[in-house]
Amino acid sequence: MKMDGKTVLITGSTDGVGRYVAAQLAAAGAKVLIHGRDKARGQSLADEIKRAGHAEPIFYQADLSSLAGSRQLASAVLADHKRLDIFISNAGIGSQNQGPQRQTSADGYELRFAVNYLSGFLLANLLLPLLKASAPARIVNVASLGQHPIDFDDVMITRGYNGSRAYAQSKLSQIMFTIDLANELKGSGVTVNSLHPATYMNTTMVRAGGITPISTVEQGGDAILHLATGDDVADKSGLFFNGMNEAKANPLPAA
Ligand SMILES: NC(=O)c1ccc[n+]([C@@H]2O[C@H](COP(=O)([O-])OP(=O)(O)OC[C@H]3O[C@@H](n4cnc5c(N)ncnc54)[C@H](OP(=O)(O)O)[C@@H]3O)[C@@H](O)[C@H]2O)c1
Repeated sequence: MKMDGKTVLITGSTDGVGRYVAAQLAAAGAKVLIHGRDKARGQSLADEIKRAGHAEPIFYQADLSSLAGSRQLASAVLADHKRLDIFISNAGIGSQNQGPQRQTSADGYELRFAVNYLSGFLLANLLLPLLKASAPARIVNVASLGQHPIDFDDVMITRGYNGSRAYAQSKLSQIMFTIDLANELKGSGVTVNSLHPATYMNTTMVRAGGITPISTVEQGGDAILHLATGDDVADKSGLFFNGMNEAKANPLPAA
């Protein structure tokens, strides 16, 4: 896909693999809408892209651990832009970020479920009118191979909590949402796919979990860029990819 004239929003682009993807998209000529919680980290990425001679990205600050934060981000993007060609839902927290214990969001939801799944669900739905108006358009949900069946009697994991299960449940939720949304979007010109970018990339999330990285952000970032911009996946929707390759998600949505 040619990126000139395309507008791309990528959440969680102030760090990790999102930061790499944002820089690559800017280098390819896209108008990039970057997002994170921290203004200084956003500014440092904007400066880096500008120094490299590319159009300065527009930074949006929003905390996606509250539904109000997601609504605020969507409203700002809808108010500022006449088109949105690609939405990459990438922001996330790992199994250990902000502590391994069970925490709840501002709205009272289990925190990893709220940040990793609910925010992307809400953002995609709020941004859909603009994506549809800009069709052909794409949504990419950055999920993971870490997937745990969802106990629909205890989605908020009030019993038997651990961070890995909470993270993996939120990631399977993103994948299930992708499949459902693709069905709803048939014929609209908007596709939606999810992926595991790469295993244990060298990012804050992985290091915070005490894990030794085994992949680079370039490897995972290139897999995200493939789904976001690759001509070979232009008509694919509702799929889950492991890196560059189509794969099967955990078939067990219910425990
Ligand atoms: N790393 C891996 O090996 C791996 C493997 C599979 C899947 N993934 C997925 O890849 C995505 C990116 O992960 P990463 O490894 O690049 O992580 P990272 O380096 O920790 O970056 C996470 C990004 O998400 C943002 N974020 C976190 N909590 C937020 C919140 N409450 N509101 C708004 N933004 C928030 C962060 O913003 P701040 O700068 O404000 O903190 C940051 O920009 C995640 O969805 C993750 O699950 C990663």
